[in-house]
Amino acid sequence: MVRSLILLLPLPLLILLLAAPSPTLAWGQAGHAIVATIAQSLLHPAVRTHLCTILPSFTSYTSPYPRKGAPHTHCHLATLASWPDTAKWRMPWSGHLHYVNPVHDEPPKTCTYGEQGFTDQENVLTGLVNYTRQLRDGTGAERDVALRFVTHFVGDLHQPLHLTGRARGGNDVWVRYEGRKARLHSIWDGQIINTQIRNLYNYTTPLPSLPFESTLQGQVWDPYIRWIMAEGLGVGKTSSAQAWWETEWSSWAECPDPPTADYGDDPTNRVDETDLPLCPMAWSRPLHPLVCQYAFASPVPAPGEEEALLEKWEERYQDASPVAAGDDVEAERRRRRRRRRRPSPSPNPQPTTSRPSTPTHPSPQPDLPELADDYLKRINDDLIIQRQLALGGVRLAAIINSVLLEEALRAEKVAEQLQEEAATSAQMQMGAPWLERVWSGVTGLVRKKMVLGGIL
Ligand SMILES: *[C@@H]1O[C@H](CO)[C@@H](O)[C@H](O)[C@H]1NC(C)=O
Ligand SMILES: *[C@@H]1O[C@H](CO)[C@@H](O)[C@H](O)[C@H]1NC(C)=O
Repeated sequence: MVRSLILLLPLPLLILLLAAPSPTLAWGQAGHAIVATIAQSLLHPAVRTHLCTILPSFTSYTSPYPRKGAPHTHCHLATLASWPDTAKWRMPWSGHLHYVNPVHDEPPKTCTYGEQGFTDQENVLTGLVNYTRQLRDGTGAERDVALRFVTHFVGDLHQPLHLTGRARGGNDVWVRYEGRKARLHSIWDGQIINTQIRNLYNYTTPLPSLPFESTLQGQVWDPYIRWIMAEGLGVGKTSSAQAWWETEWSSWAECPDPPTADYGDDPTNRVDETDLPLCPMAWSRPLHPLVCQYAFASPVPAPGEEEALLEKWEERYQDASPVAAGDDVEAERRRRRRRRRRPSPSPNPQPTTSRPSTPTHPSPQPDLPELADDYLKRINDDLIIQRQLALGGVRLAAIINSVLLEEALRAEKVAEQLQEEAATSAQMQMGAPWLERVWSGVTGLVRKKMVLGGIL
């Protein structure tokens, strides 16, 4: 069994909710930044410093943690966590690396995850291994890009709709959210998180944890991250109540040994057979049921129904303003194609000015089911989104600590201080026995590296 390595560090900066992020960005900008920030707070301090030898200087910030020798220049994973989305258009070859499509996966009717293979061997699982290897073995700018991809793909791996190919991961399923027409995929990418962030009124004051607080960047989602860290992981929590995942989270970054269950010879099924400190298949397999149980749960249209619903909706509102709210260019293109297929209403179609101008995007739009009540209550009550973000953060930190810690310590010539520093951090982190587990995790991962290294 492999244990993970997560480290923590502490301190309070009083930055509250200024910088409003664009609410429209997909794991949207918020999701990716939250995963990256949770990971950042679990990085060893030497790794935080060392990131500045890999990432560009605009990711740097001044950190009061650790107290010894402060202030430090650290570099932040969150700054470029969404970069692979932004740069996708310049790198069309990378688009299919953001998700994975299991063959015959038809949620919620049929849920398969690799039992019958995957449609493409280049996907978020193999991409993650690919770029983790480049992070470990690469040089110069290659490592910069690799680290951005690793940060991003760990996030994507934990967005359930990136684990299914049905209707392009829910991109082609239209429903309504808070009364407006929306793609199921973007509801999971960003809208549910944004609602949760908007509805959170507590956690505006710093947690008593310098390793954690020193990584917040004055974003609107800072209180939301505090909520997850305090009530979910038990970091710097002020009450004696047990945290949601207190007993399980230190094993979240473990990998099974031997690495592969018997799911067949599809190469993606064997992606965990690597000497690198990660196991995207073992990590994501237990998450795939979320696709059936939550993401495509009622009232989301059943497989095959989504097109009919959309047609009906468009027929009814085809003369509404050409680009309806929440719509996008591609949907518009599809609509045009469909219009073209229809017989022309008159031999000489009139220019657009003569189109009837009614109705203008009426609301509510009765044909598309509203995702509300039961659907959202289950997601909220079961802490699905919070747990996915936390899982991603913990695992991302585990990967990066494992790949970079040795090198970072060497760079700082502080290897001999390791024990002493661990002791100091543990003292600063009063009542946090999990720090111990985190440190012992480093050993576990190194062990995996050696064991598998010997086999391969
Ligand atoms: C692996 O990385 C290389 C270099 O960036 C890229 O060209 C290739 O598409 C990647 N393959 C996968 C599966 O990620
Ligand atoms: C903070 O707010 C959340 C969401 O409203 C709630 O579930 C949680 O119990 C609150 N925590 C504290 C410590 O007040």
